[in-house]
Amino acid sequence: MTWWRSGSIYEVYPRSFQDSDGDGIGDLRGIARRLPYLRDLGVDAVWLTPIYPSPQRDFGYDITDHCDVDPQYGTLADLDALIEAAHGNGLKLILDYVPNHTSDLHPWFTEHPDWYLWHEGGPPNNWIAVFGGPAWEQVGDRSYYHAYLPEQPDLDWRNPAVREAMYAVLRFWSARGVDGFRVDAMRQLLKDPRLRDNPPNPDYEPGMPEYDSLIPLHTTDLDEVQDIVAEMRAVIGDDRLMIAEVYAEIERLVRYYGVDGRGAHLPFNFHLLSTSWEAEAIGALVERYEAALPEGAWPNWVLGNHDRPRIASRVGPAQARVAAMLLLTLRGTPTLYYGDEIGMTDVPVQRYDFRDGARTPMQWDARGGFTSGEPWLPYGDLEINAEDSSLLPLYKRLLRLRREFSEEGYRPMHAADGVLAYARGDRIAVALNLTGEPRPLPVEGELALSTHLDGGGRGLRADEGVVLRI
Ligand code: NOJ
Repeated sequence: MTWWRSGSIYEVYPRSFQDSDGDGIGDLRGIARRLPYLRDLGVDAVWLTPIYPSPQRDFGYDITDHCDVDPQYGTLADLDALIEAAHGNGLKLILDYVPNHTSDLHPWFTEHPDWYLWHEGGPPNNWIAVFGGPAWEQVGDRSYYHAYLPEQPDLDWRNPAVREAMYAVLRFWSARGVDGFRVDAMRQLLKDPRLRDNPPNPDYEPGMPEYDSLIPLHTTDLDEVQDIVAEMRAVIGDDRLMIAEVYAEIERLVRYYGVDGRGAHLPFNFHLLSTSWEAEAIGALVERYEAALPEGAWPNWVLGNHDRPRIASRVGPAQARVAAMLLLTLRGTPTLYYGDEIGMTDVPVQRYDFRDGARTPMQWDARGGFTSGEPWLPYGDLEINAEDSSLLPLYKRLLRLRREFSEEGYRPMHAADGVLAYARGDRIAVALNLTGEPRPLPVEGELALSTHLDGGGRGLRADEGVVLRI
């Protein structure tokens, strides 16, 4: 069995996890210091969002050198040391890999303009950037395409030189001992060579993000992207984990597992982030996903990341406990977002980016504990902290308990309104009360764990989830 089937992944946003030098910005040495915390939490792998040299217009997703470390975060030697220390703590280390675009300040942009997507003249079509505005930036009498910011020109993956240069990046980090890659913006890699207009979205309503006004038919998820997925997987191999960032309908998403398992090991399943917090809706989601998985594909679930509002803000502190139990008892590899294990909430701040609120410093103790200086973003409510958390012990218990049944199958169970219930194999049942009122248990059994951590097992209390041995 590969480690990631029974294991769990913890996303660290390096800028906000732990500062070691007092400049208010998290760094690699800080992360190394906190590895024992992650080991005690019970996760198996740490995924770092980009730590490469970058002007930080998109906080590291705009890279100027794929094979080095930004001085804000440390040095290559610090990264080597972190990989070693992670392994010493029994943890795997996963890096972010950003193949779709570079920074406009990457030397490639001037030295190899043919590695990017240029068009003679002004914008040739109606394509819109994910963050809004036209996806073409005019420079003199030519324009280049950028799926995200104008400072993030897209690479031309139809150019073999681009593929070779970007595969060399994977080999570079593999040789340094990393255990896997989270591939950014996988579905964006190819665009329609005929540059056809994207069709209007009939479901668009004013107030929705501008990007949603069109269906990104000719800019995302082209069939040929699957050839690149397979090629990339061949470079990454079988000893390292390949995760693909893909926001797509379930039936499109599962294509990224590739044919005969020659695709991503785990195309990130983000659907819990957008499904309404109701037993019926979540139950239907899980069944649809389970049914869509190709033969041999291993499922996965994500409850939070650096692009989305935090779960505790979305569902409230009481249901955040139920959400933890859901994430850690479903079949498949879970990904946790730093701070969610202590119930951190979105902080009302927008200093640099519209997603700042979910990226604030980790709250280690009642005084913060992230930095000795001024944190780059403010802390949230410091009553929520890792030293004094009633949620953290629940995460720890769940992360241990799930190892008992991680390989077991998923079977939905009938339950009262507002209760999501399922069995894992023959011996474990999970019942989650998504309402604020008591509900009957769907099945009898011996209590293995309650989200309330104090007794329970005779019925479901308000906002309670239980794992039962049946
Ligand atoms: C997805 C990343 O998660 C997000 O933070 C980033 O802005 C875009 N890709 C562009 O790289």
